[in-house]
Amino acid sequence: MWIFSVQRRCFHCSLSVTKKLKGKTATEQRWVLRQLKDPYVKASHAQNFRCRSAFKLLEIDDKFRLLQPGYSVVDCGAAPGAWSQVAVQRINSAGTDQGSPRGTVIGIDLLNIPPLDGAHFLSNHDVTDPATHGKLQELLPRGRAHVILSDMAPNASGFRDMDQEKLITMCLSLIDLAEKILLPGGSLLCKYWDGVLSHHLQEKLSSVFSSVRTIKPDASRKDSAERYFLARMYRKPVK
Ligand SMILES: C[S@@+](CC[C@H](N)C(=O)[O-])C[C@H]1O[C@@H](n2cnc3c(N)ncnc32)[C@H](O)[C@@H]1O
Repeated sequence: MWIFSVQRRCFHCSLSVTKKLKGKTATEQRWVLRQLKDPYVKASHAQNFRCRSAFKLLEIDDKFRLLQPGYSVVDCGAAPGAWSQVAVQRINSAGTDQGSPRGTVIGIDLLNIPPLDGAHFLSNHDVTDPATHGKLQELLPRGRAHVILSDMAPNASGFRDMDQEKLITMCLSLIDLAEKILLPGGSLLCKYWDGVLSHHLQEKLSSVFSSVRTIKPDASRKDSAERYFLARMYRKPVK
């Protein structure tokens, strides 16, 4: 009986996998199979996160305690919104915990970001555009943030060096953003793809933050060049 029910479950399972693979190219099929096997994808469905990347931020925040109740947080490259979901929980911006101060989460993306209780989204906005910086200053309490998060990534062209350089340029623009909105002592967490220019970004960050470390969370796929710089204790540059 037990064997029969397992066989039946497997039969249904393989039927739905076959359905998911139907009409897809070989590359798309590989992607679907990898998603189906990924424990973080399964956990994100179970815990209602919008995507698996939530677990990277949860892991980093569990270790480094970046996000505190009452903080103001800017989430760059926020779509579909999983990091913002984590930030809303951790800084209490939906006011769920009445005994703790209520924070602010502002998410920005070139794409549309579906609404989320406790977050204010600037969809169809470019993080590197000074006009977006102006809007952020208006929206943030006293125009300042405690933390800037960036999981931004450009559309991959397939040319590794070119994509890496693009992402580094986007990360460098976050240093300009920090100068406008980040509180002294604040933190910046940004994703980059490891390569020849990573060191340049690290040096630039080190010139305005007292501590800069590299992080590769367990939830980040092992075969990916993805890394994060966690820069802490912001010092506004003297001009
Ligand atoms: C890996 S996804 C972010 C996932 C997100 N952290 C989450 O947990 O849901 C990267 C995002 O960066 C966005 N992006 C890329 N360049 C951008 C830019 N210049 N300004 C704003 N968003 C950008 C992309 O549109 C994409 O949605």
